[in-house]
Amino acid sequence: MEQLKLNLNYLKLDQSKLDAYLNRATAARETLYNGDGAGNDFIGWVDYVSNLKTEEIEAIQSAADKIKSQATALIVIGIGGSYLGTKSACSALLPYFDNESKTKAGKGLKIYFAGQQMSSTYLAQLKRLIAEEDVFVNVISKSGTTTEPAVAFRIIRQLLKDKYGDNFSKRIIATTDKSRGALKQYADELDIPTFVIPDNIGGRYSVFTPVGLLPIAAVGIDIKELIAGARAAAKELRNQNGDENAALLYAAVRNMLYDAGHKTEILVNYEPALNDVAEWWKQLYGESEGKDGKGILPHAMSFTTDLHSLGQYVQDGERTLFETVIDLKKSAENIIMEKEDSDLDGLNYLAGKSIAEINRSAMLATILAHTEGGVPNIVLELPELNAYQLGYLYYFFMLACGISAYMLGVNPFNQPGVEAYKKNMFALLGKDGYQDLRKELEAKLK
Ligand code: PA5
Repeated sequence: MEQLKLNLNYLKLDQSKLDAYLNRATAARETLYNGDGAGNDFIGWVDYVSNLKTEEIEAIQSAADKIKSQATALIVIGIGGSYLGTKSACSALLPYFDNESKTKAGKGLKIYFAGQQMSSTYLAQLKRLIAEEDVFVNVISKSGTTTEPAVAFRIIRQLLKDKYGDNFSKRIIATTDKSRGALKQYADELDIPTFVIPDNIGGRYSVFTPVGLLPIAAVGIDIKELIAGARAAAKELRNQNGDENAALLYAAVRNMLYDAGHKTEILVNYEPALNDVAEWWKQLYGESEGKDGKGILPHAMSFTTDLHSLGQYVQDGERTLFETVIDLKKSAENIIMEKEDSDLDGLNYLAGKSIAEINRSAMLATILAHTEGGVPNIVLELPELNAYQLGYLYYFFMLACGISAYMLGVNPFNQPGVEAYKKNMFALLGKDGYQDLRKELEAKLK
């Protein structure tokens, strides 16, 4: 099977410098595998997908089949790592149009997300939208206490109570910690089936646990293929060394660029189905690396759309950027430009070309222009967009992230910075125990 690879031909790299960074990346990979680095109690994801048992996969698939057989709409409630994997897999692998998230094979279940922000307008409109649907809810929170999903769950379960009366809890599956947290307690009390998020896997590394696999299977995506791709990545990226290993190379080059002053990385796609993969990637890299006053700012753009908005900045603005361009080698569908007799729009020179070829020329032209303009371009060649390749891509990015963060000298698996807004929010909302902070904050509010 052809796998993703990095093309560094557009970078002007000093080979001896790159070799030194590759050596550091190799040492960081050892630290990760040996479990002797910071945050080593959260490295369960490294082997989790390879060790998943057939019975575990079948249990997830059978819960997904149950959802499919009983519901027309699945509401996934979660935030951060508890929803971004699913959202990105759905966007990448389901058709563009059709709110009804049919798989390419044509099986249907609409999927909606809640608890990923706190817009009351969004929740009110979602409630109206699903009022006539057969609804199933997968509420996902590792801690079981995160405010955004907890608030959404309370609102959505009222809708379930109104629709299904005493049977409302039969329309819910919870994915949470094996014993801790309010969600686990609630699920136990109401006899709601639960799937477990292992203790040693943090949210942004959890796409191959039931957090991602259950809802992804429910919309008809082939999770066995997703898992097969991830397993191939786990094996190959463990065995390959030096610059034949895409994860080592990616971690090495981005650290090299960072040290040379390129502080912002833009993940670029030319296929908008990848926009939410970029959202998942932003969380993975942003939360893993952005700490202790360090870290590359992960940013994302979809070209050619954003060439007509942010392209000016990329070409010509402050020179602190670098790009990682996803070069999708095979378009899922294609359309050929026809010749027109009149040629009033002057496009006959494109006749006979496919839209994918035209898009590709735009990509190559942009890589050359941006490189020329002082923005280093890493090209990530992705053979095609299917469940197998997506599984490979997720694992590749997770492994490279762990390696890269260790090279940077930070703990890839904590997120202490996320707590600051939470404390202030609890204080302003009047939660018990936050009275003093509340007074302090109110004095600052104008
Ligand atoms: O990566 C992480 O650990 C976080 O982004 C979490 O996924 C996010 O905060 C949601 O947490 P929880 O699943 O506990 O509700």
